[in-house]
Amino acid sequence: MRYFIGNWKMFGVPKSISILDKINKFVKSDKKFNKKYKVVITPPHTLVQSYAKFFLNKKILIGAQNCFYKDNFGANTGAISPLMIKSIGAQYIIVGHSDNRSEGDTDVMLKAKVESSLNNKLKVVFCIGENKEHKIKNKTFEVLENQIQSTLNEKLNLKNIIVAYEPIWSIGTGQIPEPDDLLKTTIFIKKVLKKIFKKQKSPIVLYGGSVDSKNISQFKKLNEIDGFLIGGASKSDQNFIDIIKNYYR
Ligand code: PGA
Repeated sequence: MRYFIGNWKMFGVPKSISILDKINKFVKSDKKFNKKYKVVITPPHTLVQSYAKFFLNKKILIGAQNCFYKDNFGANTGAISPLMIKSIGAQYIIVGHSDNRSEGDTDVMLKAKVESSLNNKLKVVFCIGENKEHKIKNKTFEVLENQIQSTLNEKLNLKNIIVAYEPIWSIGTGQIPEPDDLLKTTIFIKKVLKKIFKKQKSPIVLYGGSVDSKNISQFKKLNEIDGFLIGGASKSDQNFIDIIKNYYR
């Protein structure tokens, strides 16, 4: 099973639903769907409820991006908790994106976000990734292991967690890792997850960072990669559909 998860970030107004509608129509008509892949789109919070309602029982699934780190309700102006996100129909949530880490999300906060999301029956897409400096200094594995260890633990249910490896230097830059490096890193991440979760379940690890309809073919042979977290290219139905088509071509 492969995942194609679209991260809209700060994009979208109610009428942008037409983009999803086109993706949904494509997926519905594609025989490979159901057996081979899942499509999840995460619009901003303002659109989650209406989109989740519209796509209820349709092919594509709706998730949200980020949440507050405290549970349920609280005196936190402007904050949105996993309980609130779940209550409006989201099924997935992105946690730990480098955008949010750079805006102040700490490991302690991320741990609380993951736990609260899982408690509220959201599937978590947990993002990790090294920056350019880490890469140059050969610290990638160390950084990734730390990010995983400080947030995930064996008490959580790995069935509801997807890890997305997103090197920060590749997000929105058009740069993607060398296939060989990416393969090694993905295998390393899976090894770390297996060490934590033992035999719970095989970990699911996605790649994210500048994935588009042209470079997607380079990922085809990397069997260890269970799917993609797609930012910029998910805002266009044609690009998103072409990513799926070209992956299976
Ligand atoms: P990008 O973003 O595909 O635009 O590089 C990916 C992400 O930030 O999740």
